[in-house]
Amino acid sequence: MCADTVSLIIFSPVIASKAKAGQFVVVRASEEGERIPLTIAESDAAAGTINLTILKRGKTSSLLCSLNKGDYITDVAGPLGIPSEIEKFGTVCIIGGGVGIAPTVPIIKAMKEAGNYVISIIGARNCSGLIFEDTIKKYSDQYHVCTDDGSMGYKGFVSGFLSQYLKENPGKKPDRVVAIGPVLMMKAVCDVTGPGGIKTIVSLNPIMVDGTGMCGSCRVEVDGKTRFGCVDGPEFDGHLVDFGLLNSRLNIYCDEEKVSNEKYMEKHECKMKI
Ligand code: FAD
Ligand code: FES
Ligand code: MG
Repeated sequence: MCADTVSLIIFSPVIASKAKAGQFVVVRASEEGERIPLTIAESDAAAGTINLTILKRGKTSSLLCSLNKGDYITDVAGPLGIPSEIEKFGTVCIIGGGVGIAPTVPIIKAMKEAGNYVISIIGARNCSGLIFEDTIKKYSDQYHVCTDDGSMGYKGFVSGFLSQYLKENPGKKPDRVVAIGPVLMMKAVCDVTGPGGIKTIVSLNPIMVDGTGMCGSCRVEVDGKTRFGCVDGPEFDGHLVDFGLLNSRLNIYCDEEKVSNEKYMEKHECKMKI
């Protein structure tokens, strides 16, 4: 994995035997710790393991990324959320940005196994952020890479590549696009697919606490209606999502998160930007 992203392979046989593409778990890293949601990037029912791929952002993700082989996590609850809609749509274009590449992996596999022609587009700041490349290549009919700095593949954002691809291949409009990554990336992809009426599914990442529909912290607005990301999603029709509201709600605890992270970093004598 790249420097700031870590994959944890967790022994959790019940979750591994039930997990479906698009689902997530809620993890509590330590007894006093907060709960955070993480997507199940891979599951192996025979081995009883799940793969959680985590980007170091603040206190809890840093703590999880610092775990070593044989360590324990206090709680892992799941699988949660409605699984991805998988059927034979025809041509499906699956787009992952940054750590959002990880959740595309089970969807790419499932879409391929359902008989779709799969076009995968992954993007990161630079080539060291391109994760799961071998697995994605294996299950894709077309595989495209984008980097912000041009260190590999198309220089620019995945949305820019998609726009160019659609212009250059006018007769090959995908039947469905799935986009997972930062809010602005998912919105930019929807802006590209909107005019052509290409159905676009996004996986929303609102702040979640319980992950079971009880606390309301994951409220999002879809088609003018309030929905809960954890139980009604996390996947929604991107053309109906209020991305502005999602983005502003994601930032409401920034001050507290900064303080908490600074305390954690002081204690662990390491430097990290959030
Ligand atoms: P903090 O400093 O506490 O927060 C940094 C930022 O992360 C915040 O500003 C906020 O935007 C977001 N965040 C903080 N707390 C939460 C929370 N409880 N729920 C959601 N977002 C939060 N990240 C990954 O690296 N890998 C994944 O596979 C992954 N899957 C996700 C699946 C879902 C359904 C959702 C909703 C989020 C997912 N995330 C994933 C995001 C991950 O949960 C946050 O990065 C993490 O909670 C940050 O915690 P922190 O304490 O390290 O950072
Ligand atoms: Fe509590 Fe969705 S996380 S209702
Ligand atoms: Mg936190």
